[in-house]
Amino acid sequence: MKKIIAANWKMHKIRPEAAKEAAVLAQSLVKGTPDNRLVVVFPPYTDIATVADAFSGVNNLAVGGQNFYPAESGAYTGEISPAMLRDAGATWALTGHSERRHIFAENDDIIAKKTAFGLAQGFKIMLCVGETLKERDDGELKSVLSRQLSTAIAPLSPAERDRLGDKLAIAYEPVWAIGTGKVAEPQEIIDAHAEVRDLLRGLVGDMAKDLPILYGGSVKANNAGAILALDNVDGLLVGGASLEATGFLEIIGA
Ligand code: PGA
Repeated sequence: MKKIIAANWKMHKIRPEAAKEAAVLAQSLVKGTPDNRLVVVFPPYTDIATVADAFSGVNNLAVGGQNFYPAESGAYTGEISPAMLRDAGATWALTGHSERRHIFAENDDIIAKKTAFGLAQGFKIMLCVGETLKERDDGELKSVLSRQLSTAIAPLSPAERDRLGDKLAIAYEPVWAIGTGKVAEPQEIIDAHAEVRDLLRGLVGDMAKDLPILYGGSVKANNAGAILALDNVDGLLVGGASLEATGFLEIIGA
């Protein structure tokens, strides 16, 4: 399985900054993205077309939306549709990111709607799951992962589930590790990823082995290689350390 190295730019970069970083990534990767890597960049909406233009024609580089509203169109002031993301050049989208869950109060129900709608619209979905520090301390890791995965995946029809093979990736991101500089310990990552794989097996059967599980939370160039080498780690979702192309290229090559 190709390792997926994803960049979440969050609310950073105006268009000239995005163009500059995307050009550096495209130029370096055109000379050879390691063939075992797929790089997906999630820029802010206003940068998607800029980044997609820079990436066009380069293998193993894709663009995604950080969010969308689960409807084709309509009176939803301030929202963006999957069709608009696609028109700008995105083929991936995030759902369930902890900042959407915790800052914007998205609950499991809306995340399930977005996941199903995004998949139905032909997007590859990167569904983010992960526990807060309090949930971990209270021994709730497994129940949180179980709830977040099952509420998003169980409502899909059997036919939809059959097609998830190359359509769904999971990002395990412990909330306490996001943007804090505090990385989960290797054993904590191994345990959580094994749990996610098991839960997926219960939800989609054998296909679970084909669904990439990424780790996210304070990934940097100096820890990326070690994390990628852990069992059941099929990629990385990188926030802060993806904002500067040189450092992010090191992570891609880790
Ligand atoms: P971080 O963010 O790498 O800055 O911790 C990861 C994420 O939010 O996806």
